[in-house]
Amino acid sequence: MAGPAAAAEDAAFDAAAVIEIAEGLRGLEGPLLPILHAVNDRLGHVDARAVPLIADILNLSRAEVHGVVGFYHDFRRAPAGRHRVQVCRAEACQAMGGEALVQQLERRFGIPCGQTTADRQVTLEAVYCLGNCALSPAAMVDGALVGRADGERIAAAIAGRAP
Ligand code: FES
Repeated sequence: MAGPAAAAEDAAFDAAAVIEIAEGLRGLEGPLLPILHAVNDRLGHVDARAVPLIADILNLSRAEVHGVVGFYHDFRRAPAGRHRVQVCRAEACQAMGGEALVQQLERRFGIPCGQTTADRQVTLEAVYCLGNCALSPAAMVDGALVGRADGERIAAAIAGRAP
């Protein structure tokens, strides 16, 4: 029996939209990345079921499309949670405790980096420089920068309070 997570995934997949996007952009030179970006932007992620559709339309192998989706951090493989927490793992932030922050958040949310909590409230992701190195370790919560980030400041940002 399909559980709630599977139901949510089914609801999030819109094959017609993927086909429409891919057919609309297939004439571009190097159409794969623009198509994947458009799918990611419109549907919120690039579902595994989109891969064969795009591969067929572009006459590529599924492995080629899978490879590109996996290579770029920009493409989400599953729908994001309600709140998106991105933690910088680039050099300046690492030097200021960025990895300890990632571990702290993994414990706090009970998920490894790159995943979404079971209640779909929080997605925890790594990013590589948010341009906020002077206030490292840096994070972004729902698109808003959080400098000198720690668990409390991030929890405050999720709750909509000024961190
Ligand atoms: S290295 Fe983390 S914001 Fe630049």
